Amino acid sequence: MERENFGSKVGAILAAAGSAVGLGNVWRFPIETGQNGGAAFIIIYVLCIIALGLPIMISEFLIGRYTHANTAGAFRIVSNGSPWKWVGRLGVFTGWFILCYYSVVGAWTMHYTFLSVTNAFYEVPAQEYGNIFEQFVSNPWIPTLWLLVFIGVIHYVITRGVQSGIEKSAKLMMPTLFVITVFLAVCSVMLPGASEGIQFLLKPDWSKVTSATVLQAMGQAFYSLSLAMGCLCTYASYFDKKTPLAKSAINVAFIDTVIAIMAGFIIFPSVFNIGMNPNEVGVGAGLTFISLPNVFQQALGDGTFLAVIFSSLFYFLLFVAALTSAISLHEVATAYVTEEFGMSRKKGATIVTAVILVLGVLCSLSFGPLSHITLLDRNIFSMFDDFSGMVLLPIGGMLISIFAGWVLDRKLYRDEISNGGDLKTPYFKLLVFSLRYIAPIAISLVFLDQIGLFNIFK
Ligand code: PHE
Repeated sequence: MERENFGSKVGAILAAAGSAVGLGNVWRFPIETGQNGGAAFIIIYVLCIIALGLPIMISEFLIGRYTHANTAGAFRIVSNGSPWKWVGRLGVFTGWFILCYYSVVGAWTMHYTFLSVTNAFYEVPAQEYGNIFEQFVSNPWIPTLWLLVFIGVIHYVITRGVQSGIEKSAKLMMPTLFVITVFLAVCSVMLPGASEGIQFLLKPDWSKVTSATVLQAMGQAFYSLSLAMGCLCTYASYFDKKTPLAKSAINVAFIDTVIAIMAGFIIFPSVFNIGMNPNEVGVGAGLTFISLPNVFQQALGDGTFLAVIFSSLFYFLLFVAALTSAISLHEVATAYVTEEFGMSRKKGATIVTAVILVLGVLCSLSFGPLSHITLLDRNIFSMFDDFSGMVLLPIGGMLISIFAGWVLDRKLYRDEISNGGDLKTPYFKLLVFSLRYIAPIAISLVFLDQIGLFNIFK
């Protein structure tokens, strides 16, 4: 069967950027930045991207494009049948696993867009937002229905194929996402008191930087670039031979970082405008679905047209960001099932969707009817989240860097990143150095930190 490629370089980069720009850019990066020394944190984060993120991203691109195969097939080819082939399978598994809980949050963003558009937050007292969220997620039906819609949209895009589905949707959604982000950031910085918010976000405070901060920056850089879950490898398998790998990786990392910083410009001016303590807004779901709806209503005028527009666009932005990431995860699994088991794309995608639906619904219900099912104090959703983020991702990333740095044929590597000698690669030695030493060591530290091993020593 003919394998499709992306139709253009721009399309390829936008699709990969779509994978990278996701919930992490909005609900984690800004708050981490504000609390960890502002510009100081951003500098460390960018250094992590350069020293750790880019080398791994380039390696994933390279393995995908060289083999033109799904992630499991790609690693099987480049590993020459050695046990390293399991790294590819691990990536597929990780991506598939993450998609199950990621879709649940994608569904929440749809519900909150709906609530915003219908002005449902009008005259809601500040302390009620927590209850609204609790009641929503514990309801057995509503989150599940939104989940069906969210997964339905992903399924539709995936079954349309690489060019007419993934690429076309990225070309539409990524510029939309960018325009909305700029619009919201501009509105937000015009609010009275915005400068305090910007200071909180940007003022460098090196005294806040500790080894924990650096670990946090590394972990975030890694997650934000969608590394080690097969996404970039799979997308790169649709790159044509002329796509410059290093330059594309830099573009993706740049877009991802700019959007993350701009998300901070959307959030903090409003938080300071209403005199809220930025250290109390929370992070993740608490920030996004409890603190921010209230912050936006108060900062922009309860129930006003501006508040409705701002809040609606903000949740729509999150929805688009989550959707493009979710599409990339689905494609990892679809390419795998389709190619490894020789099925049509439609059939492969349907199997993937069916699995996500079942596991996704379990994750979704774990805030309500299934909340009694726990393991290590976590409900099903948190098990998926923590196991993939804290265990599978770091292990995958470490293995990819070791494989690319120590095992993969050096000549092949050089040929591929220089596009057969067409491009100059003055950074080659540094790249290999990072893959061999910096990345594996750095990722092991993040891993040990995340599973709490460092706390044992304290
Ligand atoms: N990079 C995404 C983000 O920042 C994370 C992600 C992407 C997670 C794709 C899963 C799949 O949110």
